[in-house]
Amino acid sequence: MTSVSEIMESMEYGPSVEDSGAVRDWLDTRGSFGHFIGGKFTKPGSTFGTRAPATGDLLAQVSQGSADDVAAAVKAARKAQKGWAALSGTERARYLYALARHVQKRERFLSVLETLDNGKPIRESRDIDIPLVARHFYHHAGWAELRDTQFPGHAPLGVCGQIIPWNFPLLMLAWKIAPALAAGNTVVLKPAEYTPLTALAFAEICREVGLPAGVVNIVTGDGETGAALVGADVDKIAFTGSTEVGRAIAARLAGTGRRLTLELGGKSPFIVMPDADLDAAVEGVVDSIWFNQGQVCCAGSRILVAEAVAERFETLLRARMDRLRVGPPLDKSTDIGAIVDPVQKDRITSICAAAVAAGAELVGGQAAEGCFIAPGYLRNIAPANPGMEQEIFGPIATLSTFRTADEAIELANNTRYGLAGSVWSESATVATDIAAKIKAGVIWINCANLFDAAAPFGGYRESGFGREGGCAGMLDYLAEPAVKPVREPAPSAPVVAPGGEGQGSGLDRTAKLYIGGAQKRPDGGAMYAVPGGLAPLGSRKDIRGAVEAAAKAGKWSAMGGHARAQVLYYIAENLSARAPEFAARSSKSEVQAAIARAFHYAAWADKFDGANVQAKPGHLVNVIPEPFGVIGIACPNRQPLAGFMSLVMPAIAMGNRVVAIAAQDDPLPVLDLYQVFDTSDLPGGVVNIVTGGRYDLAQVLAAHDEVAAMWYAGDSAGLTAVEQAAGGNLKPVCSPANRDWTGDQAQGETFLHHATQLKTIWLPYGA
Ligand code: NAI
Repeated sequence: MTSVSEIMESMEYGPSVEDSGAVRDWLDTRGSFGHFIGGKFTKPGSTFGTRAPATGDLLAQVSQGSADDVAAAVKAARKAQKGWAALSGTERARYLYALARHVQKRERFLSVLETLDNGKPIRESRDIDIPLVARHFYHHAGWAELRDTQFPGHAPLGVCGQIIPWNFPLLMLAWKIAPALAAGNTVVLKPAEYTPLTALAFAEICREVGLPAGVVNIVTGDGETGAALVGADVDKIAFTGSTEVGRAIAARLAGTGRRLTLELGGKSPFIVMPDADLDAAVEGVVDSIWFNQGQVCCAGSRILVAEAVAERFETLLRARMDRLRVGPPLDKSTDIGAIVDPVQKDRITSICAAAVAAGAELVGGQAAEGCFIAPGYLRNIAPANPGMEQEIFGPIATLSTFRTADEAIELANNTRYGLAGSVWSESATVATDIAAKIKAGVIWINCANLFDAAAPFGGYRESGFGREGGCAGMLDYLAEPAVKPVREPAPSAPVVAPGGEGQGSGLDRTAKLYIGGAQKRPDGGAMYAVPGGLAPLGSRKDIRGAVEAAAKAGKWSAMGGHARAQVLYYIAENLSARAPEFAARSSKSEVQAAIARAFHYAAWADKFDGANVQAKPGHLVNVIPEPFGVIGIACPNRQPLAGFMSLVMPAIAMGNRVVAIAAQDDPLPVLDLYQVFDTSDLPGGVVNIVTGGRYDLAQVLAAHDEVAAMWYAGDSAGLTAVEQAAGGNLKPVCSPANRDWTGDQAQGETFLHHATQLKTIWLPYGA
């Protein structure tokens, strides 16, 4: 007789396939889709087929959006925007939770449709994607209600163009549409060409709930349609997708004044410390890189395991991997479904082939007929192997080892990306220490790939900028309180002072650059004429030297708000003591403003706290504002001293180091600040001051890889070039509107938001 345990050993699950009848009926009645514009579906135009990747079946025809379609959608959104924004928060909230409820009512339908169109296992679309979609609309119904009290003075941006990928089609739609609508914007959204169907089903839901026409518009199509949307008359572009396309969009928007948020690729580390619960960590890998066939921007695709436990970990991992079921995604017991499209399958297999050709060993990961690839990992892989550097975006991890925690952190940060990371250790001290040191926007401790509408999500470095979810996500769909604008005249090209070259000025006191805590002659020694004498004509080499000095001053970021506050108070006191002397060279009001800034941000240094958000019961979810590192600041040309202090003080209060380009036309009062900094215990390299031609200097600064964020306050002429230069490594550019830099509008929390990037750390609790 066979024992129960033998039966359990051998028993194959029978297939348990989710019924797709209702979805197929719906597709049959629709057949061919137009765009959803102004509350109506247009007649299908030039169409392309969307297929089920698991079977190759043609599911429907959808329209390829033209530039005219995009323009019509933007026009409809523009027309609807004023009325939508004029509704009360409660009224907008009603629509948002109606959307949430209707999504909930159709959970099964939407899950099946998503699984058919994308190929992801029904278990995932049913238990993760669609419930999170509903959660997102509920959460943002709340923000609609609370917008005016929680974001006083903020206004909607207007019309938002939103471009989403195919890996979480309806969830990405919800991440984009819910906050935009809550804030009072209207949208034109372009779903990915592989997976447009749930967005079209969502359009029908918008009609059912009676959402005013034009508030949500959906235009289908490929990258050309996306490009048309980027070029259209919208006030913001929100993009999720590949880093390459993100970079192109950043370049295209440079100088347009349109807002941009980018959520791009990743190559996120998954760190297993020697004291980790290895069984739990193996489950973490399953949730991390074998979730959604590895087509996840924040997938823990680089497994880094402590050498001491590597062998045991790999044995467990292998055993678990071999039990994963690859198969029809509509089968409820399938773990790994279909890759979204043959194009993506080829991309994955060719990166794996290149990795193997470069010496790595592929375990598992075989491609099968159709769009299927078995789970796998690359071992014995060198850091420079293409499989280690490129985002594979498939169910293939890399597995490498480390000896010490420091080495793990170094390996983790050895990437141009910075989207996420996962750390496994039974020691909270060790895990939180590593979480703090990984340069990424989301860290999961002893868990992986958890998401929630209240928990901000977004990247550091080349993984993009901006956040989705929670309060931070709302801020990215709102315009900051309006300031009274002041026109900033463009500076003229600096003229080298005769005899200045190579000699410094003939005056008693020779102004110098301030780099690394010391006065420095400009490279080449050239000077230019400014009020009160000659100023150093800084060059590209001086900027590089200043960035290097700032990069070395990393201790400032780690020393804590309390210690930084003391230095800022000291600066305020020392500047006060010398106020008459500075006023003689500047003006009384500017000096008073400069002192006020030091006091104000000394006060803030230990109080800009972040939050602990209610993302998921049983999880401590901390949202921490971290400094960027080195910020480049091109200071306003008007009100040199007040402008400089209004920007530099908030940046350093938050722990950044700064390379500042002082007002080109009148930099001497700013250069004199070195005396104040030197006597205030400000460590060398925290503030570096370069003077000279602002356009050239700002471009070099914006293009520098070590500079993590760029602020440009000044005339608009230089901004385009700065935004273009910054787009190379995707650093965010902040361009504070010109204002009276001695007034109240020149200080406040807004500046602190721009001086920090959020890290969201998830820590499950419970024994
Ligand atoms: P993609 O970046 O080309 O596509 C994402 C979205 O952008 C789609 O809606 C697409 O139609 C649109 N798009 C494409 N070109 C555009 C342009 N010039 N202007 C405006 N919109 C444009 O990504 P793709 O080609 O589908 O996948 C390639 C690789 O990108 C993947 O293998 C993966 O490495 C990465 N990727 C990353 C995602 C993420 O969530 N971070 C999502 C999708 C892809």
